[in-house]
Amino acid sequence: MTRPQKVYLETHGCQMNVRDSETILGLLEQHGWGFASEPETADLILINTCSVRDRAEQKTYSELGKYRLLKSRNPELLVGMAGCVAQQAGAEALARVKGLDLVCGTHNIHELPGMIGERRATGHPVVRANFTYDDERIFQSPVRPSERKVTAFVNVSIGCDHQCTYCIVPATRGSEMSRRPEDILAEVRGLVEQGVREVTLLGQNVNSYGKQFAGGTGFGGLLRLVAAVEGLERVRFTTSHPADVQRDLVEVMAAEPKVMPHIHLPVQSGSDRVLRRMKREYSRERYLEVVGWFREAVPGIAITTDIITGFPGETDADFEATISLVEEVRFDSLFSFAYSPRPGTPALKLDRELPPEVGAERLQRVQKLAAEIADEKLAAMVGSGQPVLFEGPSRQAENELMGRTPSNIAVNVPAPLWRTGRTSTVRITQKMAHTLRGEITGAGEGDQAA
Ligand code: 5AD
Ligand code: SF4
Repeated sequence: MTRPQKVYLETHGCQMNVRDSETILGLLEQHGWGFASEPETADLILINTCSVRDRAEQKTYSELGKYRLLKSRNPELLVGMAGCVAQQAGAEALARVKGLDLVCGTHNIHELPGMIGERRATGHPVVRANFTYDDERIFQSPVRPSERKVTAFVNVSIGCDHQCTYCIVPATRGSEMSRRPEDILAEVRGLVEQGVREVTLLGQNVNSYGKQFAGGTGFGGLLRLVAAVEGLERVRFTTSHPADVQRDLVEVMAAEPKVMPHIHLPVQSGSDRVLRRMKREYSRERYLEVVGWFREAVPGIAITTDIITGFPGETDADFEATISLVEEVRFDSLFSFAYSPRPGTPALKLDRELPPEVGAERLQRVQKLAAEIADEKLAAMVGSGQPVLFEGPSRQAENELMGRTPSNIAVNVPAPLWRTGRTSTVRITQKMAHTLRGEITGAGEGDQAA
């Protein structure tokens, strides 16, 4: 009897990659593969890669270099890369990593089992990194690993039609393509049948969802449809582009209790001059106006963001405008990054790239301020009662479960395993670094249904 082949998959980057990695594992499982928990015991080592910043790309190459050394112990071992670096590098990756066997682009994931077969049959590396725009296959679902989960990502669109001047995503994920509403709903219904309670709708820019369907459902309409799926308890979504947010979305969030009160709304900079040079297509004033819509219509909504510091030509005054915007909005949390020049992006042609120390210094300042604000917001939750949906065992302590508040803060609670997948009212007792602790005070809807 031959033992089953095992894949070790490492995922870098954003939720889109996390979702793609599920597809990869689901597909390989369908083809008889098992999963290895460390690279040393695998027959295939695969990295699902990120290229949004240079550091992520460098990490990919250094890890691949390390993994290929394992071939001296196991000559049958295959090493491959999928995702954004694979898409961007294509066959060039073979020159960069000696002994690389597979290069699988962002539109080619469904070809992976065939690529592995071809590699073994021919003995030659196999590269597929072309935009196929083959929606039947790209959005084909629901191939997922058999593991039971409470929350799931569901793709609503891929790619991006914006051209933010710093961003490599349009080059690695292609132009925007929406998935048909009926296919999204079918996947959500299937997930609910398998026990999923919460879905996060995923797109590079969910707010322009459906623009290719003439007169069809926009994102607000889609959210309404998903929220109406029976048995589904919570809906989240990411990412939102401020220029594409419609009033309709605000109205759905206000009216529909299943849509959780959280929006990730990347601002990138508080300076109009920088926003223009980034080609973000909104002004500081417009961003604040959109924030105002949400705050007014959805009390207590959590607003999170992304910020880039040290964009080419960013002056002290520009950066101060970002600081003042952070102070004004008081984000619940934010991700901030020092600008990283990316190959082929229009920002490379802008003059005055700043010395990296400037971006790094500004990054520290923004992070310190953001951490203070986030901490104050967490502290303000202590003593409150929150409906917490439990996702599974806590990684921090035995006999505890981890769940999330509607605003998406992780809470650790002493609770028995059977409460996984249910919602309970939790009194928040303590603030930790980025999470909360609490204790169950009452049953939620999930308990009553049981
Ligand atoms: N340099 C730094 N940060 C970047 N991001 C995207 N491209 C770059 C870049 N070249 C950040 C943006 C985006 C997040 C996912 O990554 O803030 O919202
Ligand atoms: Fe990149 Fe801008 Fe598209 Fe976001 S909206 S993926 S930052 S090009």
